[in-house]
Amino acid sequence: MADRAMHQETDAPAIAAVPAETEAVRRTVEADGVARLDGVTWLPADFAAFMESLGEPMFTKGETPLDGLPDLNVVTNVGRTTKPKSVFHSDTTYVARPPSFSGLYAAEVPEQGGATLFADQYRAYETLDPDMRDLLDGATVLHSVTGVELDPGDEREARHPVVRRHPGTGRRALYLTTPARLSALQLANGEDRSDLIQALYDHSLACGPYRRHRWGLGDVVIWDNRCTLHAADHSDVVGNRTLYRGMVRGEVPAS
Ligand SMILES: [Fe+2]
Repeated sequence: MADRAMHQETDAPAIAAVPAETEAVRRTVEADGVARLDGVTWLPADFAAFMESLGEPMFTKGETPLDGLPDLNVVTNVGRTTKPKSVFHSDTTYVARPPSFSGLYAAEVPEQGGATLFADQYRAYETLDPDMRDLLDGATVLHSVTGVELDPGDEREARHPVVRRHPGTGRRALYLTTPARLSALQLANGEDRSDLIQALYDHSLACGPYRRHRWGLGDVVIWDNRCTLHAADHSDVVGNRTLYRGMVRGEVPAS
């Protein structure tokens, strides 16, 4: 289902282009999930400063900081011997205060492919059966780290509501990440319904349509991790693809 949906583009709404003004970007991204900044010709330091204008910078331990701008991490296929894999996820959800906003700056753009896709988690919640929405009221799920090296004492898991109320818009959204990082889904009455994890994730990806951003050099795209999932489409990349990512620390998720 995910693979088929990955290529679904028909009728996908365009990603809004907004002027690079903090409050306009915040409003658009909270309401719409994702925005690209209109007409920016920035250096990486300008991008880092803009991300900081949205809130406290956050860095995921185990990722690669950019030389001279340690709040940004480098996402690249350069020097890799195997094709990177990307599945739909929300960034760094295994901590008590996961990132609200993430942004990417395109430092090196491949000749072909490498788009970033976004799934709408407001829509995922709103298109669930009413019975399922009722069932998930007050449910929580455990988010755990995978794939990064941590030290003893580092945060590596956190329990969050399955349905999250966005503090900016007041709307509810499914708050998930890839099922490999999710376990122990518990309903409000204490019943374990971990069997729902894969079905909820599949629903999130199936209810589409996705937004898709094809990168141009210097492009900046910012999204809200509280109401979207995102993935890179590495299926047909030709050439070097290097992006710099910044993140903003969010609040403790509430239902
Ligand atoms: Fe990500």
